Amino acid sequence: MFFKNLALAAPLFAGASTALPQAAPGAKLSPDAKFSLMALRSGSEVHFASFEAAKGSVFVKLPSQNASCDAGAADHATFYLQDGGLYLYAASATPQQLYADRSGMGQGKLGYTTGAQPAPSNGERTSFALDENNDLTVNGAGFLACPNSIDGAWSVWVSTGVEKPAGNQGCLGISARAVEAANPNGCLYTQ
Ligand SMILES: *[C@@H]1O[C@H](CO)[C@@H](O)[C@H](O)[C@H]1NC(C)=O
Repeated sequence: MFFKNLALAAPLFAGASTALPQAAPGAKLSPDAKFSLMALRSGSEVHFASFEAAKGSVFVKLPSQNASCDAGAADHATFYLQDGGLYLYAASATPQQLYADRSGMGQGKLGYTTGAQPAPSNGERTSFALDENNDLTVNGAGFLACPNSIDGAWSVWVSTGVEKPAGNQGCLGISARAVEAANPNGCLYTQ
């Protein structure tokens, strides 16, 4: 574990002088890794922004998630994958699981449920995976970020070919790069 972390840290030190997170793909994350997700869209406002979770939805550039966390306030969400399901990381027993609704109704809605709360009828819960670049996909699909959401944040959607999901204008296609969390902070995110 110690050596593995050292190996992961090395490229970060190499890139530290740029003061920007490392975007180059590193080693494939282990299947049980806890990770944050970083939006990649060069030349845009959301490039390198971390994914946040609040109110059952996923955002970037959200000022505050207001989650209840074990190790102090978290300014971004921490995730893990299990059997194709994507979960918000928490040390507590209440699972918060992501779903993607790629139906005509959902238009690519990316959200999460808490505990026994059911997903929307067209919600897919077990189509999440990391590709060879550690980019998150939903059955191969990537993501969109749309401006002018709550608190000035951008809402995150699964790309379905709909340019303006739920009427949102100015959406940008993004990659969602998983970055391993060395010290994951367990949180219960707001519903
Ligand atoms: C977080 O709390 C602040 C202060 O109550 C509020 O203004 C903000 O809208 C909240 N954000 C979310 C995502 O719930």
